[in-house]
This record gives sequence, C-alpha cells and structure tokens, in this order.
Amino acid sequence: VMKTTGDRQRLRAQLAECRARGQRIAFVPTMGNLHDGHLQLVRRGLELADIVVVSIFVNPLQFGAGEDLDAYPRTLAADKEKLFAEGVKFLYTPDATDIYPEGLERHTQVLVPDLSETLCGSSRPGHFNGVATIVAKLFNIVQPDVAIFGEKDFQQLSIVRKMVADLCLPLDVIGVPTVRDRDGLALSSRNGYLSPTERRIAPLLHETLGSCRDAIACGFDNFLQLESHARMRLLQAGFEPDYFAIRDARTLRQVTEDTEEIAILAAARLGSTRLIDNLRLSLN
Ligand code: PAJ
Repeated sequence: VMKTTGDRQRLRAQLAECRARGQRIAFVPTMGNLHDGHLQLVRRGLELADIVVVSIFVNPLQFGAGEDLDAYPRTLAADKEKLFAEGVKFLYTPDATDIYPEGLERHTQVLVPDLSETLCGSSRPGHFNGVATIVAKLFNIVQPDVAIFGEKDFQQLSIVRKMVADLCLPLDVIGVPTVRDRDGLALSSRNGYLSPTERRIAPLLHETLGSCRDAIACGFDNFLQLESHARMRLLQAGFEPDYFAIRDARTLRQVTEDTEEIAILAAARLGSTRLIDNLRLSLN
C-alpha cells in the first residue's frame, strides 16, 4: 500500500513509526505531473534508503505574477499510480491553506543570497526564495535522512545544498542526472505546453549546450563569444533566450583560474513555454 495524506501530523506519526523501526527515509519533493525524471529520483531514493516519501505540492510562493501557477498541470490520479508502481510508501499532498495558513505575504521566507539572484533568479525575482522556503518546510515536516533533487534544475540543487549547509539541516542532498527524451530534450512537466512545431524545435536547447561544451572541451576559451553565438543560434531557431551562461559549477559565478568544473546553463522561451537546461564539464 501507499499511504497518501495531506495531513502533516498524520504523516509525521507514520514516519515516526518507520524511524523507530530503524528505517532510513528518502524524500523526493515534486510539484506533480510526474514523468520519468521524477521517477528516476524515486528509484535513487529506494537505493539509498528503506522507504521513499514523495510530496506533490504546486507551491504558489515560487510562482511570479503572470506565471503558470493556475495552468500548471495537475494529474494526481495518474501520479499516484506511477508512484505506487515504483514502490513509494508515502505520498504527502498538502493544501496551500495548510502550508500558508495566513497567506503568502505573512509567511517567513528563507533567502539564499547570491546563488538565488543570478540566472533564473534574475528572470524570476523571488522564485528561489519560494523554493527555499517550501523545501525547508517540507524537510522539517518529513525529516528525511536524504533528499533527492534533479540536476535538470541545477541552480535549484545548488541553492538547496547551500541552504542545508548554512542552516545545519541534518540530511544529505543527492543530485540525479537529467533524464532526457530520445532527441535530447530534458523531460519537464512544462514540455506538455509545447505545440507540435515547438516540440520539434525544443531539442535545439540541449544541442546548443552540447556544441558549447564540445567547443570548451576542445580548448576554445572565448566564453563571451561562445555565449553570444549560442544565443544567436537559439534566437534564429525561434527561441527567446533569457540567458545562456558559462559559469563555475560550484559558485555559479564567472569562471576563474580556480574553477574545477564548468556549468553551461540556459533558459529560453519557446512561444509561451519557458525551458531550462544545463550541461557540465570537468576541467581536468
Ligand atoms: P518539479 O519541477 O516537479 O521537480 C521535482 C524534482 O524533479 C526536482 O528535483 C527536479 O530537478 C527533478 N526533475 C525534473 N525534471 C527532471 C529530469 N528531466 N531529470 C531529472 N530530474 C528532474 O523542482 C520542483 O518541482 C520544485 O521547485 C520543488 C523542488 C518541488 C519545490 O517546490
């Protein structure tokens, strides 16, 4: 059986029993509309712990005005079947009224400086405060031994790691490589917004990241030129790029002499759909 509840007292009581039996708990937070990327996190969780807890909550605090909060796909029945089939034992589906009883404005927020302000943080002001806040709350509700996040949202993963370190939260954060469609497009709940024509263009985001990585791997070191070339290529294909950036994978700042690993990160709009993706490259 998979126990599903929106009641955090109840979830806590059930998880306390597991913990008392000595079971290790892995946690996978999601916003639902589950695809194979999410399920890969669940599978990693089952390798690392005895039981996996998944949450499904479309967190209003991380959506800006005019973003897709209302349109965000909600497919709870199908999601439940997928999680049950993977062997998930606990699904937590809270209501916004329970998570934010006094509304969004009156809620305490977790702010991770620097990392939250660059890249997606500048295109989506406040977004990562909303992410850090909900993830901190969910960690406190579930109290997992390990939490699993996708590298697809590389900046989010970096911010969660930094928050866990800074706030001394007693859990390990594990990243899982991006799961892609056969044509390279990173799986995302937002891919469902793409028209057939847009869907054919969409893999170019990954392809452009790949060409950039290859060029750097071959020793090409004019990053500004690589970035602007990539943006041009995306524009010509019909994307509206938010950013295409070659950064230090650890700090998400500019690459320096101390950089050991590079992250190439991109966000671009295709029609009304905002897509993100990234690739990494080790420098030794
Ligand atoms: P969501 O977009 O549902 O993603 C949930 C988790 O799945 C995240 O850790 C994300 O990085 C991972 N994921 C999504 N697509 C993936 C793919 N193609 N390959 C591997 N992992 C993938 O990210 C969120 O929800 C929210 O911001 C959340 C962390 C739940 C806070 O509200």
